[in-house]
Amino acid sequence: MHAKNAHGYFTFPKLEGEIGNKMIFRGKKQLIWSLNNYLGLANHPEVRRVDAEASKQYGLATPMGARMMSGNSDLHEELEAQLSDFMRKEDTILLNYGYQGMVSAIDALVDRHDVIVYDSEAHACIIDGLRLHMGKRFVYPHNDIENLQKQLERATHLTEISGGAILVITEGVFGMSGDQGKLKEIVELKKKYDFRLFVDDAHGFGTMGKTGAGTGEEQGVQDGIDIYFGTFAKAMASIGAFISSTQSVVEYLRYNMRSQIFAKSLPMPLVIGAMKRLELLRTQPELKNNLWKIVHALQSSLTKAGFEIGNTQSPVTPVYLNGTIPEATNLILDLRENYDIFCSMVVYPVVPKGIIMLRLIPTAAHTLEDVDYTIAAFSKVLVNLKEGKYVGDTVVSG
Ligand SMILES: Cc1ncc(COP(=O)(O)O)c(C=O)c1O
Repeated sequence: MHAKNAHGYFTFPKLEGEIGNKMIFRGKKQLIWSLNNYLGLANHPEVRRVDAEASKQYGLATPMGARMMSGNSDLHEELEAQLSDFMRKEDTILLNYGYQGMVSAIDALVDRHDVIVYDSEAHACIIDGLRLHMGKRFVYPHNDIENLQKQLERATHLTEISGGAILVITEGVFGMSGDQGKLKEIVELKKKYDFRLFVDDAHGFGTMGKTGAGTGEEQGVQDGIDIYFGTFAKAMASIGAFISSTQSVVEYLRYNMRSQIFAKSLPMPLVIGAMKRLELLRTQPELKNNLWKIVHALQSSLTKAGFEIGNTQSPVTPVYLNGTIPEATNLILDLRENYDIFCSMVVYPVVPKGIIMLRLIPTAAHTLEDVDYTIAAFSKVLVNLKEGKYVGDTVVSG
């Protein structure tokens, strides 16, 4: 019902041109705040050159088949070794997609005797992985460590009877609100409870921590993360993902993860492209510094201008406003049509009724002028929203 009116504008919009701070939407140049191109690597000349050369040399077919059967290569193994080194873990397995990899990893790691304890705001890929789990699962309210302890008590009782084990799953950076999972506190609980910690750090890999190794490094508990998940789809601006862990866990995953065993391996250009991105991430700290310069400018300017940005502790920048869904769509229309600003909007049921969340993703490709321009525009649309100017049907012309 909604798709009919929204399609092509609010849903499935087409952003054209080179990926960067400015792109074309419906024929007009817009300032874009909705791409997870955190480090600006999507259009880095070195990345573009290596992607193109690798595609020319190998095409998209090589290697053919699943890794286990015929699709392995020295370069796949080399990328895994480089990721292990960077993540300070014993071993790494490449995944074709983050989403599918996470679902399949959960499926492989636990059986019906095991209990999964997870954060209530876990990403869809974690929730979908849980659906495959034949044993018990206990949820704790987002980042509520006291409640997590209660769930761990319950899980401990159960596993004492079943003979299974406990897997705690959370995120490094939560992609909607931008707050970090309380990894330090969770790792501390290992002194009291026997469990393994699995962290989805899709938004933290490349953006958080001194070297960019993610939220575990940021919080000083990298070693406490038993199983680390990162994707190439955000800071690395590509496709693919990986899990780093102990040699025995990774070896087990290699022989038990259905999404990798029963699917063609990552095409060579993606593997070679990922190596180049990882090299830049490691050797050019200015990429991350530029990102954080924009993050700090954006978040502090928004706060100074009176906007509510919640509890973000990462580049993900939510802006919470009060209004109905029609007001949200009219506000977005105004931003796009009259200010040439493109950002994503999140409404009920992802956030409570009556709340509009604008989600801004600052990147190294943005400028301080982009920040100033956006704050000025946001201040104007906020006045309109408060004066009730966005009430009524949303009409997209053209
Ligand atoms: C927290 C989180 N986990 C996993 C994924 C899935 O990653 P991919 O895009 O590589 O499938 C995403 C991406 O949307 C994510 O935000």
